[in-house]
Parts: sequence; C-alpha cells; structure tokens
Amino acid sequence: MEKNPSMMRDGALDGQVIVITGGGTGLGRSMAQAFLRLGAKVCITSRKIEVLREAAAQLEKETGGTVLPVACDVRKWQEVDALLKQVLDRFGRVDSLVNDAAGNFISPTERLSPKAFETIIGIVLMGSVNCTLAFGKHWIEEPPAHRTVLNITTTYAWTGSGYVVPSACAKAGVLALTRSLAVEWAKYGIRTNAIAPGPFPTKGAWQRLLPGQLVEQFDMAKRVPLGRVGEHRELADLAAYLVSPYSSYINGEVVTIDGGEWLKGAGQFNMLDQVEPAMWDAIERMVRGAKS
Ligand code: HXC
Ligand code: NAP
Repeated sequence: MEKNPSMMRDGALDGQVIVITGGGTGLGRSMAQAFLRLGAKVCITSRKIEVLREAAAQLEKETGGTVLPVACDVRKWQEVDALLKQVLDRFGRVDSLVNDAAGNFISPTERLSPKAFETIIGIVLMGSVNCTLAFGKHWIEEPPAHRTVLNITTTYAWTGSGYVVPSACAKAGVLALTRSLAVEWAKYGIRTNAIAPGPFPTKGAWQRLLPGQLVEQFDMAKRVPLGRVGEHRELADLAAYLVSPYSSYINGEVVTIDGGEWLKGAGQFNMLDQVEPAMWDAIERMVRGAKS
C-alpha cells in the first residue's frame, strides 16, 4: 500500500461510504483513489461493468481499500434506485455522492440533432438529478448526519461556451441544482457543493474535446495563467476536503480549480501579457503623450 500523499491527514475519511458516478475512469477514478487512501469505502459506477471491475481491482491493490463496482446508467431512474440498494446492502450506509459522470463532444450546434442534446443533458443534468434525488430521499428518511453531494461542473457553466452547447446547458443546470439544494436540504444535514475544473487531461475528455491534431493546435496549458494543465491529485485533494467533515460549514459553494483559466478569458485586457516587458516604456510614453 502506498503512503498517503494527500493534504488531508491519514484516516480523514475513515468509516465513510462514498459513491462516485463515472468513478471507473479519469477524474472520478482519481477521486476514488484519494478517498480510499484516506480510509473511505467507495462505490464506483458507470455503464461499463468491465471497466469498473478492472478499476476496482487496481484501486484495491493500490490502496488496500474496499471498492464496489456497480453498473448503472445514471439516465435511468430504476438503475439509480438499484444502485442505492446495492450500496446499502453491501455497506449498510452511504455518506457522500459525487456526481462526476458526464458525456460531451465538440460540434457546431447547427450540426446537432435533438437526440444529441437529449443525450448530453440526460447524462449530465438528469443523471445528477436522478442520483441526487434517490440518495437525498434516502437520507431525508434517516436521522440527520454528515452527508454531502459533490457535483462536478465546469467553468463554462456560468460563461457558456460555443461548440459544447449541450454540455454548457447541462452543467449550468447542475450549478443551479447545487445552489438550490444547498439551501433547501441544509435542514436535513445535507451539504451540496460543486467543483468547477479547468483543463485536466483525461482520455475521455481529450478524445472528445481535442481529437487528432487539435491537441497540438489548441494547447490547453497556454490558456492558463499558471502555464500548465491541472494534476489529478490537485482536484482529488479538493474533493476529499469537500466530502469530509472538515468542510462542514461550506455549503452551496462552487470551487473553481483552473489555474485562473476562465478569468483570463474574461478580463478584456488580459491579452496584454503578450506584450514584451521592453515594450512597456514605449507604451507608457504613448499613453502619457495622449494627454497633450
Ligand atoms: C454530432 C453526435 C456526436 C458528434 C454523438 N452524436 N456524437 N452528434 N457530433 N461527435 C449524436 C448521435 O448521432 C446521436 O444522435 C446522439 O448524439 C447520441 O449518440 P450515441 O452515440 O447514441 O450516445 P451514447 O452511446 O449514449 O454515447 C454518449 C456520448 C459518448 C456522450 C455521445 O461520447 C460517451 O459515451 N461519452 C461518455 C464519456 C465522455 O463524454 N467523457 C467526456 C467528459 S469531458 P442521433 O440523432 O444521430 O441519434 C467533459 C469536460 C468538460 O465533460 C469541460 C472541459 C474543459
Ligand atoms: P471521463 O473519464 O470520460 O469520465 C466520464 C465518466 O462518465 C466515464 O467514467 C463514463 O463511464 C461515465 N458515464 C458516461 N455516461 C454515463 C451514464 N449514462 N451513466 C453513468 N456513467 C456515465 O472524463 P473526465 O474528464 O474524467 O470527466 C469527469 C468529470 O469532470 C465530468 O463531469 C466532466 O464534465 C468534468 N470535467 C472534466 C474536465 C477535464 O478537463 N477533464 C474539465 C471540466 C469538467 P461509462 O462510459 O462506463 O459510462
């Protein structure tokens, strides 16, 4: 078993049961690994049971923890209901839900069919709604305790973005879900928060958002003020904190973790970082000269 590399102390999630949709791949898998290292028991779920079984076996080997792989299409209420039952049968409880499952691809919007919109909104928004509703109803029937929903959204949830419009619509809905339930369900002891990641390389996202030569043509690191893409460990640490009791007064928050990427796009003059330092003397002279 590897040493705990997290900012959180050993055993910070001891005894907790955490369900991660989309937990067999990418960022979901990285969060699963971090939670396991901190003592949680984890259920990873998505559509492909073979991928989940392989990930579960590897994660158990890496961390010494316990992983339950369950096939579930989050678009289907009955499968989500069955997921909850399987988790309760196996672990007897569930403390946190991480809505990480997503579908996305780049396309000019006029090329999309209604079905394409329905598919992405079905996975991202309705999937998060289905899981949150199933787990929330269960928690509300039980005595109040420390319970959390952590939604994975993205920074274009509030800016919008061309070429990923179904995803932008769905992620905006997930953000509204986060903030709405943070208030409505606080009385049941359920905290609801979100993470908005910037670019974190994963096979799932890169294959669909930067296929072929686009990956060289649009170097994501260049968009980020910190000059690099995110490391999974950085996001996993944040997620571990947000599902842990250490963040017990954080509710309804969306934490951006993008190296400053979206703000760089938002500030009208941020392109001036391309001006060479030597040019600034001449520019200052011209600007001051404008007075006369
Ligand atoms: C146009 C497309 C399309 C494309 C699919 N469709 N791909 N339309 N361009 N590239 C259309 C299909 O033609 C169909 O409509 C409808 O969408 C449903 O497609 P299916 O292939 O039948 O759907 P399904 O098998 O359910 O697969 C879902 C999927 C797929 C989303 C299309 O890519 C998938 O399984 N993705 C899961 C993983 C994933 O996407 N990970 C990336 C997350 S990254 P018609 O009308 O023809 O029937 C992410 C990052 C956000 O979210 C921020 C980054 C910075
Ligand atoms: P990923 O590896 O492709 O993860 C998506 C997961 O969702 C997969 O495990 C997939 O598994 C699962 N999934 C898709 N449709 C599903 C369905 N109908 N039911 C259940 N599970 C389903 O991509 P990722 O980059 O790690 O993305 C993880 C999360 O981070 C997503 O919410 C994404 O929007 C968000 N995000 C990522 C980035 C980034 O740069 N990577 C940036 C911003 C936000 P199956 O195919 O087996 O179902």
